[in-house]
Amino acid sequence: MRTINIGMFGLGVVGCGVVNILRNNGDLIRSRLGADVVLAKAVTAHPRKARSVSLDGIAVSDNPDTILDDPRIDIVVELVGGTKAAKDIVLRAMDAGKPVVTANKALLAEEARAVFGKAYEKNLPLGLEASVAGGIPILRSLKEGLASEHILEISGIVNGTCNYILSKMTSEGAAFDDVLAEAQRLGYAETDPTFDVQGFDSAHKLAILVNLAYGTMVPYKDIYCEGISHITPMDIAYADQMGYVIKLLAIGKLVDGRVEARVHPTLVAADHLLSQVHGVFNAVYITGDNVDATMSYGRGAGAAPTGSAVVGDIMDISRRLLSGQKGGLPPLSVMADRLRDLPVVPIHDIDSEYYLRFQVLDRVGVLARMTTVLGNNNISIQSMFQPSTADHPSDPVQVVLITHNARERNVLKSLEEIKTMDFVAGSPQLIRIEKLID
Ligand SMILES: NC(=O)c1ccc[n+]([C@@H]2O[C@H](COP(=O)([O-])OP(=O)(O)OC[C@H]3O[C@@H](n4cnc5c(N)ncnc54)[C@H](OP(=O)(O)O)[C@@H]3O)[C@@H](O)[C@H]2O)c1
Repeated sequence: MRTINIGMFGLGVVGCGVVNILRNNGDLIRSRLGADVVLAKAVTAHPRKARSVSLDGIAVSDNPDTILDDPRIDIVVELVGGTKAAKDIVLRAMDAGKPVVTANKALLAEEARAVFGKAYEKNLPLGLEASVAGGIPILRSLKEGLASEHILEISGIVNGTCNYILSKMTSEGAAFDDVLAEAQRLGYAETDPTFDVQGFDSAHKLAILVNLAYGTMVPYKDIYCEGISHITPMDIAYADQMGYVIKLLAIGKLVDGRVEARVHPTLVAADHLLSQVHGVFNAVYITGDNVDATMSYGRGAGAAPTGSAVVGDIMDISRRLLSGQKGGLPPLSVMADRLRDLPVVPIHDIDSEYYLRFQVLDRVGVLARMTTVLGNNNISIQSMFQPSTADHPSDPVQVVLITHNARERNVLKSLEEIKTMDFVAGSPQLIRIEKLID
């Protein structure tokens, strides 16, 4: 029986998950591949550190050359994270003619040109399933099952920390800071949660999704990214009363030859499938021109789910190696000569419906003055909601307006004008509404 030798970088959360799966499910893997997959070598920053798994039989060191210069290593797995050392590892591996599997969304999003460019140049398979939505095989769906589809829209809940926080705020009416502290205690949020709660992690995953969906390499910095820390229990409660749930969505679409790629808190209809995704779970909702709507759901992080995606990629590439195929599917779905540079739509150029919450003094004519400003900027109101009246004339009240489809630059211009008016008692809140194709 043939053996596929793996050289793996990183023995952290995901690395140890991979060790476990290869060990525990080795027989199943052998029966499905007709070959043994052996983790022959691992390179990690601190080779002597105690691990949660046994490393018996694996040669562990801190020297990358032990893997990269070894002709017996068939596949290199990168589970280091970050964009510096990981980039060197991945590029060197491909230069040495070795297929790579990586879970590194930051690298794939921020260094797309270097990494995908090298995979195209060397005609090598690149396994990246674990980089988006952990254990959910969503990239394989996009590349294979949906290969014939024009992708009309992608809407993903792809950060478990944010979904956990928003779900708890929704079910318990709790404040963002309190739920974040609880999530940190339970290990669902990092000690420094910035990367997750400000949306950067979701933006990395969105970059990979849109690049695969549209055969492009959008500059990561062009993706609009807004986190969830300004969402209040009040907004969640008002949204609920108007038939919506607030989710952090990663949204991708192709509009008139430009890519919309944006991450922000979003009002989603309460009866939509994405609104039923609670806690740390992830889901990606993709609509194609023939298949119509699809949704994939599951765990977006953790040693076992992410490790499962990594091992799935290892097996996929092993099958190619065993059948003598050098290349794989094109790394970004399309042939090299069909890759295209697509501009990203700046956020002020998008059209959307909006939830606008104003804090105003309860005076006669306030509503008329606000709607006049909005009307002058081409924005029409779909519905209005005033949750409470003031006990005292000097107490501010909340007014919520839901707009029809409007250009964001017009909405922002209106808010700037309204903010200066004498009856306004606080900063307005703006949350986009996504009308998802059912
Ligand atoms: N954790 C998840 O649930 C999850 C989900 C999806 C994707 N990912 C991605 O998977 C990757 C790994 O994440 P993780 O959570 O496993 O990270 P982690 O627990 O921090 O592990 C990182 C590992 O890399 C090693 N390392 C650091 N610098 C290195 C270097 N220069 N050369 C070789 N090894 C080095 C560390 O070594 P020592 O242990 O020896 O110090 C550690 O074992 C990241 O790209 C992450 O974004 C993670």
